[in-house]
Amino acid sequence: MCGIVGYIGFRNASDVLLKTLKRLEYRGYDSAGVAIINGSLQVEKKKGYIDALSIDFEGTIGIGHTRWATHGAPSNENAHPFVDCKGEIAIVHNGIIENFMELKEELLKSGHIFKSDTDSESIAHLIEEYGEYPFRAAFMKAVRRLRGSFAIAAIKVGERKIMVAKKESPLVIGIGDHENFIASDIPAFLEYTNRVVVLKDGEFAELEEDSVTIYDNNGKEIHRDVTRIDWSVEDAEKGGYEHFMLKEIFEQPRAMEDTLYALESRELFSLDIERVNIVACGTSYHAGLTGKYVLEELLHVPVSVYYASEYRYMAAVEDPALTILITQSGETADTIGAAKRAKELGNITVGITNVVGSSITNYVDYVLYTNAGPEIGVAATKTFTTQLAVLYYFAIRSALSMRKLTRKSAERLLSELHRMPYYIEKVLDEEESIKAEAQKIANANSMYFIARGLNYPVALEGALKMKEISYIHAEGYPAGELKHGPIALIDNGMPVIALVPEDALYEKMLSNIKEVTARDAYVVGLSSNGDVEKWVNSLILVPHTQPLFTPFVNAVALQLLAYHVAKTLGRKIDKPKNLAKTVTVE
Ligand code: AGP
Repeated sequence: MCGIVGYIGFRNASDVLLKTLKRLEYRGYDSAGVAIINGSLQVEKKKGYIDALSIDFEGTIGIGHTRWATHGAPSNENAHPFVDCKGEIAIVHNGIIENFMELKEELLKSGHIFKSDTDSESIAHLIEEYGEYPFRAAFMKAVRRLRGSFAIAAIKVGERKIMVAKKESPLVIGIGDHENFIASDIPAFLEYTNRVVVLKDGEFAELEEDSVTIYDNNGKEIHRDVTRIDWSVEDAEKGGYEHFMLKEIFEQPRAMEDTLYALESRELFSLDIERVNIVACGTSYHAGLTGKYVLEELLHVPVSVYYASEYRYMAAVEDPALTILITQSGETADTIGAAKRAKELGNITVGITNVVGSSITNYVDYVLYTNAGPEIGVAATKTFTTQLAVLYYFAIRSALSMRKLTRKSAERLLSELHRMPYYIEKVLDEEESIKAEAQKIANANSMYFIARGLNYPVALEGALKMKEISYIHAEGYPAGELKHGPIALIDNGMPVIALVPEDALYEKMLSNIKEVTARDAYVVGLSSNGDVEKWVNSLILVPHTQPLFTPFVNAVALQLLAYHVAKTLGRKIDKPKNLAKTVTVE
């Protein structure tokens, strides 16, 4: 999704903007641009990658943007920044302006000339329209006319300041010494400062080199504490790995430890839970679906799991329930919309997110953090396993407080949960054998991932990882469902990845494997039981854990499998085509 950056200080703004924009590349984009003031406004914007920008502007104040097209095709004209008619005001925008058609009509009538098909351009003209007011007031007046979601930054010739506004799109401010930054995400400016101010929806900020002033929606000055971020630049960089995704896969043992440590260092709210709804998108949805099995097993309460984009508009959702919203970024538009709806329906809401101060934290009653550190690869990996860690921890602790588990059983489960980093290390040790397997299946056109019960969501997640980074068609199915239709597609050599944990459904899984080997599928089994080798074409051995915990090891093995298939095919692993890390539009 679009990324915005801004800089005011003593450094060369072009250098800072290009570096900070580069750090937002992972969000996905199709064009990029910057605007810098050095006496006059200098703008460079182009379709394509940041490296295509040729900038040698002087100037120490500027804004930049990476665009992911929504209104208007990717093109030089539709790239940000946008400039007003006089060429004095430049803006960058992330989000969607829902009333841009009516604004554009009004602005066209007053003589403004538009050069793009975007909704964002109207913001520059609207600020110009309020030109009789000082820049800050004009900016605020213009922003108050906007409907939709936005993070906006604006600069104006003759004004040594950056004005910003935020509503439902991410925006953070970095506080330096005699310099200040803005960005869609903290890692963008982490090289320069780890002191951060998080803007809330409806707020404005005015950045000068020695001050940052925050205003509420009415323009009243407000105080906001500065947060110190303890990630290092290194945490947000590749650290010797070829791809962020691989680095993040290998960070999982530490990410799990940090997450569990942080959970144990806080007092967990206790809730009387009668029913649970879980709402999320993509990989976070798969974590939620796994959470359903765990919560139902330990709490004996019904759990429904919804895609956030569906939940938002369902005619009726079940009775008020504890509603858990899962989003690693904390900025996914659909999940935020679902959080608002859940509140309107009278639910108690809990958000699970990886990003401190992200938007979701403003819309839920309680927040549980995954402490995975920044995740840059578009494919979610360590945020998935840490989401599982949070859900397992929450389920065990809630079951204990609701007396559904004895202290002894809860302690036994917690100690197994604490052993997961060790088991994940064991899976990572198998990278070479998983890579060999990946190379055997990399030429397939299509794959199935099958499992039963608790591992069915892991099969869905394995298929999602495979398709998003390798571009091979992959589907996850409950193994028992294959013969109701999907088996029709099995033919000679089609890979079927079968998850075969040593649990109550072990034998049923073996029967399902027989059904597909009988139709000449090439079956790759994932199991801790070496006997499975007799039933499959190839076996990836994973460490033995208690059945309830098998999703952790299976998920990591499938991440490595997808990674090595994509690598064999030479794909752009960290930034797959058509995908964005943070989906801030519906
Ligand atoms: C997974 O690899 C994808 N990046 C995607 O499915 C992602 O999980 C989804 O967009 C939800 O993101 P969120 O967790 O930030 O809300």
